[in-house]
Amino acid sequence: MNNFWHWTVIVIVIVHLIAYIWLLLATAKKKVAKNDKNTTGHEWDGIVELDSPMPRWWLWLFVISIIFAAGYLYAYPGLGNYQGSLNWSQQKQFQAHYDKVTEARNKSFATFINKPIDELVNDDKAMLIGSRIFANNCALCHGSDAQGATGFPNLTDDDWNWGGDFEQILTSVKTGRNGIMPPLAPALGEEGVKQVAAYVRSLSSTEQDANLVAEGQNKFNMFCAACHGTDGKGNDMFGAPNLTDNIWLHGTSEIIETAIYEGLSGKMPAHAEILDENRVKLVAAYVYSLSKE
Ligand code: HEC
Ligand code: HEC
Repeated sequence: MNNFWHWTVIVIVIVHLIAYIWLLLATAKKKVAKNDKNTTGHEWDGIVELDSPMPRWWLWLFVISIIFAAGYLYAYPGLGNYQGSLNWSQQKQFQAHYDKVTEARNKSFATFINKPIDELVNDDKAMLIGSRIFANNCALCHGSDAQGATGFPNLTDDDWNWGGDFEQILTSVKTGRNGIMPPLAPALGEEGVKQVAAYVRSLSSTEQDANLVAEGQNKFNMFCAACHGTDGKGNDMFGAPNLTDNIWLHGTSEIIETAIYEGLSGKMPAHAEILDENRVKLVAAYVYSLSKE
């Protein structure tokens, strides 16, 4: 609000207040026109209009209203930019209320924070809160049933790219994860891609050409094993998926060639800033419990 409106509002409000006082005084002083019947002379169908002064209590109500208005405008914002002597604002009132609720919630959460994970997963209340936090913050990507979608891991199946220990899940939620697989086709060549793809398919037990698989295994050990392991079972450190279990983060085994040609990446956002420590722990415990059911 610039100064023009600031002063316009102040002037309008104060002129109004003064006008009310004047109106009150002017009408209170006015002499009642006395005729012998004390009427204004208006008459309609036998009903006459009396010319009595306003009752005193009624007049006082006006006076009190005006004094109240002046006091209110002194204490609370109402005159342009003036903040009021109490320095009250909706924002502050909301914040105070919010802080109170947060404090109460933290108190009730504090009973969970020190519990070991084995107890937490058996605590119905903790799991209920965890599931709500999940619905609000995670379901968007991982699905309301936590079963994920293409590119978003299923969290219920005990197959983990970044590890399924409670501490590992906690880290996934807190700091986020960023799985990156570089495109390796330039190093492998077209034939090499075919061979490695055949080998990777053979790991999840589909019949493949034995020659391709043998060559593919050599190349896998050279180019892929550093991340996915010599047995192809993946590595928690890099978030490299297990390639032997026929569970495909990116859909089906159809994507093997695409993965090698184009590379892959997936980003799980960090939640330490979004959720406080208690809530991170509760939602991680909930996720942990899902794969243990
Ligand atoms: C630098 C480490 C690294 C190397 C080297 C690497 N990968 Fe990966 N790979 C990953 C990561 C990390 C992912 C998961 C990507 C994500 O998070 O979306 C992945 C995903 C995949 C997937 C998809 C798995 C799924 O469940 O959808 C396939 C298939 C795959 N890699 C095959 C290969 C093959 C074949 C090679 C060798 C030619 C290879 N990778 C080399 C790190 C690597
Ligand atoms: C913006 C989408 C998004 C949101 C929101 C999100 N995630 Fe994720 N999450 C991902 C992606 C993508 C990955 C896979 C990262 C990768 O490719 O390595 C992932 C991975 C994970 C993992 C590791 C899975 C594994 O196999 O090791 C866990 C655990 C997880 N998320 C839990 C959560 C929880 C709990 C929440 C809510 C607090 C959440 N995520 C919110 C996208 C999301």
